[in-house]
Amino acid sequence: MITLGIETSCDETSCALLEDGDKLLSNVVSSSLEKHKPFGGIVPEIASRHALENIDVVFEEALRQGRKRLEDVDLISVTYGPGLIGSLLVGVSFAKALAFSRKIDLVGVNHLEAHLEANLIEHPRPKSSYLGLVVSGGHTLLVLCKETHYERLGSTVDDAVGEAYDKVAMLMGLGYPGGPLIDQLAEKGDPKRFRFTKPKLAHELDFSFSGIKTAVLHLLEKMGDEKKKKEEWPHLAAGFQHAVISWLVEGVRRAAKKTGARHLLVGGGVSANSLLRKKLKELETELEMTVYLPPLNLTNDNAAMIAKTGYEKFQKGIRSDFSLTAMPNLPVLT
Ligand code: KG4
Ligand code: ZN
Repeated sequence: MITLGIETSCDETSCALLEDGDKLLSNVVSSSLEKHKPFGGIVPEIASRHALENIDVVFEEALRQGRKRLEDVDLISVTYGPGLIGSLLVGVSFAKALAFSRKIDLVGVNHLEAHLEANLIEHPRPKSSYLGLVVSGGHTLLVLCKETHYERLGSTVDDAVGEAYDKVAMLMGLGYPGGPLIDQLAEKGDPKRFRFTKPKLAHELDFSFSGIKTAVLHLLEKMGDEKKKKEEWPHLAAGFQHAVISWLVEGVRRAAKKTGARHLLVGGGVSANSLLRKKLKELETELEMTVYLPPLNLTNDNAAMIAKTGYEKFQKGIRSDFSLTAMPNLPVLT
């Protein structure tokens, strides 16, 4: 069975072909990231225009690389939320038009759920309830994935962790997106030079990342001249990275103890982070649990994960009709 995945929720336009549930035939991603860089963040109008101008090219390329024709496609799976309304509409409209004109089954997919499902292309689904950690530019979410639904355990009360990386990198003058830049810089720094305290929250499994951004701003203001700032850059990056990653890992540790879950699935752009990957893997021995991290080419937004999620839903008998529409604020708990 061939599933065509379509992803256009943010700045990436992507199409993928998945054979059955585990054989990825192609995964073509066209990013508009370069066009957003001068603005220091995603400009929704630029993102949706890029999707509109590229979706057909990306689709053709996914077919070509997968050595398939449209006639071979049995199922179309598309992200319908959460995300930017303009970008989402491009993918959903494209998917609906293809499905309608070729009489192909259609499934709408939740983008956040798909970040976790990305792991299950190469690993089997755990047999009992498992933890899911979604860490991206827009979301920071800890869930318990049960057979029929998701239970929210914790989430950020303010900024997403990726957003904190991006904002701190902007304050330091490093550029956009900040995650990979801080991750690299932190390797050369001393994480003990600047220490940041974990914010106190009403719910122990929630996160908060906006205070640390202000703390970094105050430190930078105190440093004064540019030369001093540049000397301290790696230490600041290391201190920041050490803090936010340890808060995430602590959240997972508590969630694992509270729920007794024996597996953790991680997803989203920040799951590419080197320290997060290392620290979460260490939990395997500490808590005797299995941790699935997505391969690096599937940490960012991509259509492979959308194809996988749609395929799994289809197997459970789930289909969408043509009333499917973009839902920018779709929650993960569906
Ligand atoms: O999942 P994603 O591609 O898009 C959203 O759905 O948000 O995630 C993008 C986010 C950005 O905030 C980016 O800075 C962050 O992922 N990111 C990283 C790393 N690579 C990307 N954050 C920390 N360390 C990284 N290596
Ligand atoms: Zn994403």
